[in-house]
Amino acid sequence: TPISSPDLSTCSQGTNLNTQQPLDVNCCPPFSDKIIDYKLPHTSHHHRRLRPAAHLASKEYIAKYERATALMKALPDDDPRNFMQQANVHCAYCNLTYDQTGDESEKLQIHNCWHFFPWHRWYLYFYERILGKLIDDPTFAIPYWNWDNPDGMAIPAMFVKENSPLYDERRNQTHLPPTPADLLYSSTSKTDPNIIIPTNLTEMYGEMVRNVSNIEDFYGAKYVVGTAPDPGPGTVERGSHTALHAWVGDPRSPAGEDMGNFYSTARDPIFYSLHANVDRLWSVWRGLRGHRPKEFEDEDWLEASFVFYDENAQLVRVRVKDTLEDEKMGFSYQKVDLPWLDKRP
Ligand code: C2O
Repeated sequence: TPISSPDLSTCSQGTNLNTQQPLDVNCCPPFSDKIIDYKLPHTSHHHRRLRPAAHLASKEYIAKYERATALMKALPDDDPRNFMQQANVHCAYCNLTYDQTGDESEKLQIHNCWHFFPWHRWYLYFYERILGKLIDDPTFAIPYWNWDNPDGMAIPAMFVKENSPLYDERRNQTHLPPTPADLLYSSTSKTDPNIIIPTNLTEMYGEMVRNVSNIEDFYGAKYVVGTAPDPGPGTVERGSHTALHAWVGDPRSPAGEDMGNFYSTARDPIFYSLHANVDRLWSVWRGLRGHRPKEFEDEDWLEASFVFYDENAQLVRVRVKDTLEDEKMGFSYQKVDLPWLDKRP
């Protein structure tokens, strides 16, 4: 049986997955029992959202993104579209706060399994629409952090301007720009700074091409009602994605906050750009597949559902099967080179 949208009334105190202690923050969303099945709106081509590479974004674009984020932070605390409420969506789906619908003996965790790409795609989708609505711009699109390209490997400049709504002080202060991200970083091992860039490109080639022989390798392992959390991540989730969370997180904070801990990660605005690039890599990977399968045909995957609050603060039920084509969802990515594509080790 596919995972189905959680019953918000089962949301309870979560677990801090870095310390295994009960979480001392409540990340449950405001309650609503009016759920609508979400239908992808038809988007005319002049309402397309083109997500830019953050390091190439214009001044005007950055000003608009700052304004939208400031408005989101200024919404009432209990508005599900408020910035902290949006950050808590990540915590609620990751920190074992919900029972699995259909098996209360298991908790819901959408990481480390085949729902990683589709769930985050929906999450960004509504985050982006909320921002667009707040500035009354139906074409607004979030920027992606192009960390798979040497030109974009450092934290993008828009995130390190103090006093900006995109700034977060809880970051590793030795990893600020122009330091390139280490896509193999862990708290116990670091790549020699002189070889970070070529090592990153080889890592990307591995995650996108060499280490993927079947679809599970890329998406992650099957996860259905009754599966215990964390059956296994795909190549990008396990590799560059997790390394970047740890690389940005602040070693001065108690447990990797903000970026290095599931419950707090989305409190840092850079989270949404890290994940926009993960999401972009999903689209890129599909494009590289040619005639080979691009997704599971298993109904247990396609029919899985989640709930989110949309840009009108309406609770909606969404399905994995509607995430497969970014263009159908109304967005796409600014095209850039793929310098790792010929980096066969
Ligand atoms: Cu939901 Cu990058 O984790």
